[in-house]
Amino acid sequence: MADSLTIREGLTREQKYKTLLPQVKALIGGETSLIANMANLSAVVHATLGFHWVGFYLVENDDELVLGPFQGPVACTRLKKGHGVCAAAWEKAQTIIVPDVHAFPGHVACSPFSKSEIVVPVKNAENEVIAVFDIDSDKLDDFSTSDRDGLEAFVETLKDSRL
Ligand code: SME
Repeated sequence: MADSLTIREGLTREQKYKTLLPQVKALIGGETSLIANMANLSAVVHATLGFHWVGFYLVENDDELVLGPFQGPVACTRLKKGHGVCAAAWEKAQTIIVPDVHAFPGHVACSPFSKSEIVVPVKNAENEVIAVFDIDSDKLDDFSTSDRDGLEAFVETLKDSRL
């Protein structure tokens, strides 16, 4: 199991995703606890990519999302189905990129600093959405399809983890 990350200075974000993926696989692959792996994945992304808020919400009782492991300022604890970006990614079962959170109808503002957001659904081995990985940036339009690809590859490593 890897217990530290190696990443050079001066890499682009895309290069960071590429360099980190094998390290994330080593870190997550040696552990089956979903919570432990979500905690470490939040720490990897926060420490290396430096976003304002990075964390997970877990599906509970099929009608809401509850806060899971995260890095950053305190956040909303529960998000109702049908409201906000995280719930939309859960219900659509696909990644959502929001360039300007204030232009997204129903966006749930947990922090006044968040300006753009990406949410990646976490699916189990049966392909059901069991959680979402939510990342908030304090910059407008901070996420591209390369973030989507990089983060989806990170999230894919959780497939065999269990609560
Ligand atoms: N903005 C999210 C809520 C979670 S926070 O960003 C941490 C949403 O609209 O679902």
